[in-house]
Amino acid sequence: MSAPPQPATARPQVTPPPWGVTRAPDVPPRLRAALAAADGDRIVFDLPGIAERHATLRRELPGVAVRFAMKACPVDEVLTLLAAGGAGFDAASPQEIAQALAAGAPPGAVHFGNTVKSDRHIGEAHRLGIRDFATDSLEDVTAIAAHAPGARVFCRLATSGDGALWGLSRKFGCSPADAVRVLERARDLGLTPSGLSVHVGSQQMTAEAWRDTFTTLADTLTELHRRGIEPDHVNLGGGLPALGYLDRWGEPLNPPLDKIFAAIREGMETLRRLSPSPLDFLIEPGRHLVADQGAIRAHVARLSSRRQPDGEPQHWLYLSCGKFNGLYEMDAVRYRLVFPTHPGEDVVPAVVAGPTCDSDDAYGVDGEPTRVPRTVASGDPVWILSTGAYATSYTTRGFNGFQPLPYGWTGDRPQAEGRG
Ligand SMILES: Cc1ncc(COP(=O)(O)O)c(C=O)c1O
Repeated sequence: MSAPPQPATARPQVTPPPWGVTRAPDVPPRLRAALAAADGDRIVFDLPGIAERHATLRRELPGVAVRFAMKACPVDEVLTLLAAGGAGFDAASPQEIAQALAAGAPPGAVHFGNTVKSDRHIGEAHRLGIRDFATDSLEDVTAIAAHAPGARVFCRLATSGDGALWGLSRKFGCSPADAVRVLERARDLGLTPSGLSVHVGSQQMTAEAWRDTFTTLADTLTELHRRGIEPDHVNLGGGLPALGYLDRWGEPLNPPLDKIFAAIREGMETLRRLSPSPLDFLIEPGRHLVADQGAIRAHVARLSSRRQPDGEPQHWLYLSCGKFNGLYEMDAVRYRLVFPTHPGEDVVPAVVAGPTCDSDDAYGVDGEPTRVPRTVASGDPVWILSTGAYATSYTTRGFNGFQPLPYGWTGDRPQAEGRG
């Protein structure tokens, strides 16, 4: 995500379990086996689990083409698996486009979904066979006409981002009036004004945000029709939530996924009804397909107790993995931790932090502490769940000498179509 997390919301009213109790989260069996077998730090992707999540999504939103947002998990084996299952890709650069094609996706199933692109990148994408481009400004659409003549363009509408953990709207997207201007300009320049796109904000937690977005889409489509432009598709973007995160206080987020799917189905029906010609839909899930199907095997660097300036002792659990090597999103969410060598043990309240010399590399220091086994020792394994999204892409290359995590997977290694 490129925007900072939304402002703090009030702490939910929950009664935490008493301090002496460990809550051992369930770990899906395939991931459990792979994590248990790992003899060093790594991130593991449950490929059959990703295929199942993809299949479930297609059942929930029948007829909607899935274009995986590559930025969430640019891992060859994951992309190849998804391409083999019929997914296309939302790519943000020529490098991502080349990776998508190598994974087996045909160029027609890949779009250049980034509204930010240089002339050179537009030309490279066009030479790679890409014909569908996102846009949101007159400057960008003019550049597409010059460097990808005859392309199809879809215009991204801004959304408020309300209800999402990460709103994205200020950097991308335009007003409905601007979208009409941009698509009219596209038509005048010999491009095909093919669609509209949105992004409701990443880890969107409400169905209302989807309903509001469909209202904006309906109004914009109606105005486009009035001007003689009939888009052939709507790209619903990302925002579908992961299911296994904890909030910043350590409580389950529990996104209302069923209500979200119902709002999307209803919204699509409304847009289809008001369109004079057939309307297709795409969706660009990122974290929803991969977050819960990835887990990190890290280890304990140290559990220490230090008196703070106010005189109070505080436990700190330092892990081998933190904000800069796998847990970039730890400023907005917490992850379920499993200490496989300390089941059901007495716990202490601790602040959890990563290994670097950077004070941002920690769960909110003033927030609710995490329950950690009292006797964990340096080197003990710890499993960090629901870390399959944005972990490999948002990792530094050796900050303080901590290298990106190696990765592995469960299931068979997928082969891209046409590859040996
Ligand atoms: C254009 C676009 N589509 C889809 C996504 C995927 O978002 P998410 O991981 O919230 O599904 C992103 C991520 O920011 C994006 O920029």
